Amino acid sequence: MSAHVIDGKALAQDIRAAVARDIAQFHRQTGIRPGLAVFLVGDDPASAVYVRNKKKACDQAGLMVDEHTLPATTSQAELLRLIEQANSDSRIHGILVQLPLPPQIESKIVLNAVSPEKDVDGFHPCNMGRLVEGDPRIVPCTPYGILKMIQSTGQAIEGKRAVVLGRSNIVGKPMAILLLQHHATVTVCHSRTKELPAICREADIVVAAIGRAQYVKAEMVKPGAIVIDVGINRLDDGRLVGDVDFDPVRERAGWISPVPGGVGPMTIAMLLVNTIEAAKRLVQRA
Ligand code: GUN
Repeated sequence: MSAHVIDGKALAQDIRAAVARDIAQFHRQTGIRPGLAVFLVGDDPASAVYVRNKKKACDQAGLMVDEHTLPATTSQAELLRLIEQANSDSRIHGILVQLPLPPQIESKIVLNAVSPEKDVDGFHPCNMGRLVEGDPRIVPCTPYGILKMIQSTGQAIEGKRAVVLGRSNIVGKPMAILLLQHHATVTVCHSRTKELPAICREADIVVAAIGRAQYVKAEMVKPGAIVIDVGINRLDDGRLVGDVDFDPVRERAGWISPVPGGVGPMTIAMLLVNTIEAAKRLVQRA
C-alpha cells in the first residue's frame, strides 16, 4: 500500500489565504499594516532564495516588508545597530535574521538582540524558554509547520512514539519539545546515536532533519508511520532530494511529506502566522 502524500504546498496555501484575510481585517480595524523587517547578510545562494520566497509570500498576504540586504563584510556592530532600530520602530512587528550569518558575526548575540515580542522566528532564548516551559508565545516556523502537517493527517499525537532525527536549535530541539507538549513519547537521534535504524523503526512519527540525502530507508520505517522530511539536499546529478528515500519509504509509510512541496512552504506560511500574531499582541499592548 502506498502512503498518503502530505501536500505541504496546498496546506500552506490554505494557511496563507487565512492569514491574508486576518491581515485585511486587522488593517480595517486598526489602520495598521503589519510590518516585517528581514535581514539577509552575505551571499549564501540558498538564503537568497529563501528570503525571496518569504518576501513574495508577505507581499501576497498584505504584510509590509522592510528588506535589508547587507554585504558579507557587514560588521556585527552594524547589524546590531540595525536590529535595535527595528526593535524600536513601531511600524515593524516582526524581525527575521536569515541564517547562516557570515563568520565575523556571532549568531547567538544577534538572535538575542531581537526583541522577543518581534522575534517571529522564535529563536530568542525567551521564546525557546517559554516553549520548553509549555507556555509558548512564538514557536519556530519549521517545527510549527510540521506540527500542522502531522495534525492534518487526522492521527492523534498523544501517546504515540515520535523520533526526531537531528538536534539543531532551528528544527530538531524545538520539534522534540513541541511533540512532547502534544503528549508524544519523544526520542531525539543524532550523529552519535547508536542503533539509530532500530530506534527509528519503533516510531509512529518520524521527523527527519539531519541534512543527509535519502538517509531514511524503507527498512528504518514502521509500516503505517507518519514520515516528515525536512531535508533539502542537492545530488550530484542536480536533483533536489530530502533526508528520506522517498519512493521506497512511500511504499511502507502511512503518510509521507515530499521534497520539494512539503515542509518548505509550511515554514513560510507559519512565518506569516507568527508575524500577524505578533502584530496583534504589540498593538493590543500599545
Ligand atoms: N535558515 C534556515 N532556516 C531558517 C529559518 O527558519 N529562519 C531563519 N531566519 N533562517 C533560517
